[in-house]
Amino acid sequence: MAGKPTCVAEYEELFKSRLDETGWIYFVSGSDEEITLKQNRKAFKRLRLKPRLLRNVNSRDLSTSLLGQRVDFPICIAPTAFQGAACPDAELATAKAAEKMGTCMILSLHANKSMEEVMTKSPAGLKWQNIYLFRNRTVTLDLVRRAESSNYRGLVVTIDNPSLGNLTRIYKDKGISTFFADVTGKHGYGHCKKYLKGYDMGPVVADVMPSDLDKTDPSATWEYVDWLRTQTNLPIIIKGVLTAEDAILAVNHGANAVIVSNHGGRALDSVPATIEALPEIARAIGDKVEVYFDGGIRNGNDVFKALALGAKAVFVGRPILYGLAHSGEEGVVNVLDILKTELHRTMGFTGCQTLADIKPSFVVHESHYAKL
Ligand code: LAC
Repeated sequence: MAGKPTCVAEYEELFKSRLDETGWIYFVSGSDEEITLKQNRKAFKRLRLKPRLLRNVNSRDLSTSLLGQRVDFPICIAPTAFQGAACPDAELATAKAAEKMGTCMILSLHANKSMEEVMTKSPAGLKWQNIYLFRNRTVTLDLVRRAESSNYRGLVVTIDNPSLGNLTRIYKDKGISTFFADVTGKHGYGHCKKYLKGYDMGPVVADVMPSDLDKTDPSATWEYVDWLRTQTNLPIIIKGVLTAEDAILAVNHGANAVIVSNHGGRALDSVPATIEALPEIARAIGDKVEVYFDGGIRNGNDVFKALALGAKAVFVGRPILYGLAHSGEEGVVNVLDILKTELHRTMGFTGCQTLADIKPSFVVHESHYAKL
């Protein structure tokens, strides 16, 4: 094999050859016409960076804190489902990579390893647990209690999926029902297809089945968040906010932080790219709670743009899967390291010594230059 990939684009290219067609489609698809999926990336390309030079960038500090917990750099791991289809060690490998790199990982509700096992195998890393708001609040509460007793430091509540998105490409795939049965362990060990070429998936037991997504509460309102607030002292991080209005409501209902996200283009199609939605949300609540970001990040310049426009940290989803499918823990470490190194370089070209130096004025929309 040639040397290690040196950018996320290379890992993305290799991802397709590492997986069979169904597994690949599951991970890369978006909903309906995939407008939002594509725009998440394209919108970054419409933004220009303004370099600032001769500002002594000999030493650059990328560290920050998330709800009081230190991370070495502001690039964290977003929750993505069924990592067992990309790597036999699944979420255990991802968690170890996050621990090694000193960053935060959000464990998906639809993980192939239990939250207890993930914590036992990588106890030192900062981890948050993803939950959904279920019709049956006892199901929600059981997840909260498990997260508390296994030392997760935050609950990431996904609110953007009142039902599964219309994932047309996924639903059309002939192998998809077998895929769901495999990734949720319904076929049992030994019957799983090989989604990652060369490996079967091993014994997988997802904490919650995809069919449970249908059991999320369609009648949920912000009252559900009020109730959750009364049930736990863990920080509540609301994921899936795209408007200033909902961001303000999240804060008023007790959220400790908000993640600007459109579910990687997998929920409602035609919503704004997350980098388009970020500024209004940061302006509305950025002085009250921490604002985080996910969607479309593929390099350090993208990270820098999101930080400049108001994110305290960013979360990456698919690039982590690319690294995972390529070489497990080592692949995820390398993807994180690439993004960290790229952010460090961009800070050099913009004269930023710390993350606090990264201001909105470094980023302009390309239309700015059309008016000259
Ligand atoms: C998805 C759900 C499981 O996007 O979050 O596939």
